[in-house]
Amino acid sequence: MSNYNQDKLTADVVAAFSKSPDPRLGEIMMSLVKHLHAFAREVDLKPEEWQAGLKFMEETCRITNRPEIIVLSDTLGLSMMVVSLAQARAGQASGATEATEATVEGPFYWPGAPDLPLGADIGEGVPGEPALYMGRVTDVDGKPLANALLDVWSGDGEGMYDMQLSDPPTMKARGRFRTDAEGRYWFWSILPNFYPIPDDGTVGRMFRATGRSIYRPGHVHLMVSAEGHVPLTTHLFIASSPYLHEDAVFGKRDSLVVETDRHPPGKSVVGREMKVPYHSASYDFRLAPITEKVAA
Ligand SMILES: [Fe+2]
Repeated sequence: MSNYNQDKLTADVVAAFSKSPDPRLGEIMMSLVKHLHAFAREVDLKPEEWQAGLKFMEETCRITNRPEIIVLSDTLGLSMMVVSLAQARAGQASGATEATEATVEGPFYWPGAPDLPLGADIGEGVPGEPALYMGRVTDVDGKPLANALLDVWSGDGEGMYDMQLSDPPTMKARGRFRTDAEGRYWFWSILPNFYPIPDDGTVGRMFRATGRSIYRPGHVHLMVSAEGHVPLTTHLFIASSPYLHEDAVFGKRDSLVVETDRHPPGKSVVGREMKVPYHSASYDFRLAPITEKVAA
């Protein structure tokens, strides 16, 4: 059978979107149609496979105890692609390519974590070995940013997030900290462990059917922001964690991997008396300036 009708079909659908009142939306839809049609033709998509795909998407959207659609986007690498494009765009606009690298937000961000003083411990009552996180928030020239906000969330030492532990969940291992006048921050938490992406839903099924590894290396999530600077959503990856080189969501960046030191019990560098061994990690965040081009 000739491919003529298939080509005409694609052209007709693309043309149907060509007069979108919002030109950007038109551009996105026309490209989406072209790529979707090309995908179907490349794999010679069968009706039953298309049906299975639709059912998969429908079931993905029906999962309500977490945003499974984010897990799907993350595990297809699309979230990281969008993050990477945004950071490259911001870097080009501001000329500040040396800002700390961004990575995926993931499905476990929970707005409204408590505002806590520097040195507070968000790991109390959370399984895992204590860990001290410290460093500075600066601009790309190394100038300290006072009063910068670090919104932190972490899984526990057993690889679970508070949102997965009870229904309704109780907030744990989350807190918001402000840097001091010299841009410094420090807080206590636990050393997070590697964990599987939620695998009891459609994405888990996709992983099993395709033989993919479901694990993410241990990491702490942070949103770092300061007035006049591009907000940063990123992780700190624990250097000693398994799965560092096969992150299921492709979010790991070498520049975000931190070495941790293990200390015996005693007085920590920030003065806290520790009765048990603990870890420490040090990392400085660099934020790009907001320029008019970025703001637009
Ligand atoms: Fe995570």
